[in-house]
Amino acid sequence: MVYEPIKTYVEGLDEKMEGGIPRGHSVLIAGTAGTMKSTFTFSILYNNATHKKKHGVYITLEQSEESLYAQMEAMGYQISLVRDTITFVDVSKIRGGLADYGKSGAWVDFITEVLMEIHKFKPVDIIAFDSLGLIEVLTDMKNPRRDLFGMMDLFHKLGATSLMISEMTQGSDLFGRNDEDFLVDGIFHLQHHKVHDVDYENRLRVVKMRGVKHTTSYHQVHFKDGRFTVSSIVPDK
Ligand SMILES: Nc1ncnc2c1ncn2[C@@H]1O[C@H](COP(=O)(O)OP(=O)(O)OP(=O)(O)O)[C@@H](O)[C@H]1O
Ligand SMILES: [Mg+2]
Repeated sequence: MVYEPIKTYVEGLDEKMEGGIPRGHSVLIAGTAGTMKSTFTFSILYNNATHKKKHGVYITLEQSEESLYAQMEAMGYQISLVRDTITFVDVSKIRGGLADYGKSGAWVDFITEVLMEIHKFKPVDIIAFDSLGLIEVLTDMKNPRRDLFGMMDLFHKLGATSLMISEMTQGSDLFGRNDEDFLVDGIFHLQHHKVHDVDYENRLRVVKMRGVKHTTSYHQVHFKDGRFTVSSIVPDK
């Protein structure tokens, strides 16, 4: 059976990547600070929840539910519409959370326990993980590559499509800090591009998406009232 891909609902993008993200793919949403990584990721969960009733789980390590939802409301999303379709997990609020499990690879077991509980209750379609940079700060990773592989393996076993946010270092070409570039199935790069001395624009590029014929050029990103649109900067190859 061929499954429909997970649409990004970014206007102008899905048609340039054979309809969206293949189901079950693990994908990095990479960018430096403030490039709209969280909003972009939330927007995919939100649109799949409202249009397709897909169950999204938003795992955050840094923000409370109230704070993220207030931010997303301000961006133009109607949170009341997705209260039942998106499960929000603030890892820091869970008793015995990362503080206890954070040593070496045990944090993967912790995330596994949390996700399995949710999955038993309602199968998970899309997982957002905000963010990979923070898990490094908050846990004692002796072998980050193994840990990340463990987490991706879990997402895969659940049959979920995962969107993992990765903070890039200014000036670096690496999308992830621990070889995620090679481990993941797909990468979206969000970028602040200097247009001239005083002006920046947001740009987006599909760096890779296994099994998909996609555009690889940077696109200009427009955002208004909770809707992302991309437009070509150069004609698509
Ligand atoms: N209505 C809006 N339209 C366009 N851009 C906005 C709007 N409101 C805020 N922004 C910009 O979006 C940025 C925040 O977006 P978001 O939190 O999704 O980015 P992020 O990449 O996740 O940031 P961080 O690196 O802090 O995690 C703000 O810093 C602001 O510059
Ligand atoms: Mg963010």
